Amino acid sequence: MTELDTNSIRKEFPILNQTIRGKRLCYLDNAATTQKPQFVIQKISDCLTNEYAAVSRGVHYLSQNISAKYEAVREQVAKFINAKNPREIIFTSGTTAGLNLLAYSLSELLLKNDGAILITAMEHHANLIPWQMAAKRYGRQLRVLPITANGELDLTNFEKLLDGVKIFACTHSSNLLGTINDIKELNRIAKSYGAITVFDGAQAIAHNRVDVQEINCDFYVFSGHKIYAPTGVGVLYGLGELLEQMPPFLTGGAMISTVSFENTEFAQYPQKFEAGTPPVIEVIGLGAALEWIEKHGGVEKFAAYKNALRAEFEAELNKLDGITIHGKSQNKTALTSWTMNGIHPHDVGTILDDCGIAVRVGHHCAEPLTKLLQVPATIRASFAIYNNSEDIKQLIEGIKTVQRFFNC
Ligand SMILES: Cc1ncc(COP(=O)(O)O)c(C=O)c1O
Repeated sequence: MTELDTNSIRKEFPILNQTIRGKRLCYLDNAATTQKPQFVIQKISDCLTNEYAAVSRGVHYLSQNISAKYEAVREQVAKFINAKNPREIIFTSGTTAGLNLLAYSLSELLLKNDGAILITAMEHHANLIPWQMAAKRYGRQLRVLPITANGELDLTNFEKLLDGVKIFACTHSSNLLGTINDIKELNRIAKSYGAITVFDGAQAIAHNRVDVQEINCDFYVFSGHKIYAPTGVGVLYGLGELLEQMPPFLTGGAMISTVSFENTEFAQYPQKFEAGTPPVIEVIGLGAALEWIEKHGGVEKFAAYKNALRAEFEAELNKLDGITIHGKSQNKTALTSWTMNGIHPHDVGTILDDCGIAVRVGHHCAEPLTKLLQVPATIRASFAIYNNSEDIKQLIEGIKTVQRFFNC
């Protein structure tokens, strides 16, 4: 398929074929989680029906068969983000788990004697709290790179802030503002100051072609469920030479070489970081989702379509009175956050829900950022490949209903 046929793609998502509160379902909460195409649902169902067993535990046929498939997805993910070696792909339960793993293991490796951590003001709590706790644990400074009024990173003092920093952890794209950061350049500068770099790709992975070798980063983390795969699986990409040196995070089964009552020798990475029975259904689902995306032309094609939808929506939104859009970067992912004069975002969300529209309202797990924006919360619409102009029309009509309700 060369040209995207989004009408037929939409039909591949069975959940969209329903009414909610008597209205056409308009699902615009894709930055929280995406819906799943029948292709992914079927692969998971087939696996559960015919192939399910524990990975790497048995000599029997089913276990060997599913273990090979699990490892094949590791290779597929490595190809998807152009990692040099599939061993540099660690399966986690999601972005949060990957970042916690790093905040524990990397901090243990790097922060024992000295060194500060630098994050940015636009981080999701998942890329803030683990580092905050690591900083407290080791008595180190947690520094914060500020943002501009446009919602972009303010790089004026970036190099000054990097002085003495051992870990720079930054989002590839903001889940509240939509801003896509130039992580290749940020990485170059941070590494020139000797920092190890960690990028949170939770929002960017469905929207940007990620090439970890080209970015030249040390770590890149994302979740499957934001890219049409199920929940419960995520990816931590890490540079082999660092994974080699880092201590494990979780310990237990599947991550050992030998164990005695006195001591344990750990397995090589990636197994060193994959303690416990692996989430095989979820990993198979992730492989299916990546296959499905490539089948339809890849994330770049998806991004171009979603960007056009966002631009169409923001143009319509700007025609209405009393609207403030938060995040005005020229380089944005497919989401829009806004507030409405005098109306609490939770009231907006409730009325929109009554119109069959699913958006996100709240601080989006970026509470310090909402405080900087001086709003209690925002309303966020985020687009996926199955959305269309009809969704935008329904949302704009819904927003007008909110305005009428509050006599604006
Ligand atoms: C930018 C960002 N980072 C991290 C996360 C956490 O992802 P998960 O809940 O899948 O672990 C999210 C989820 O919304 C996110 O948007």
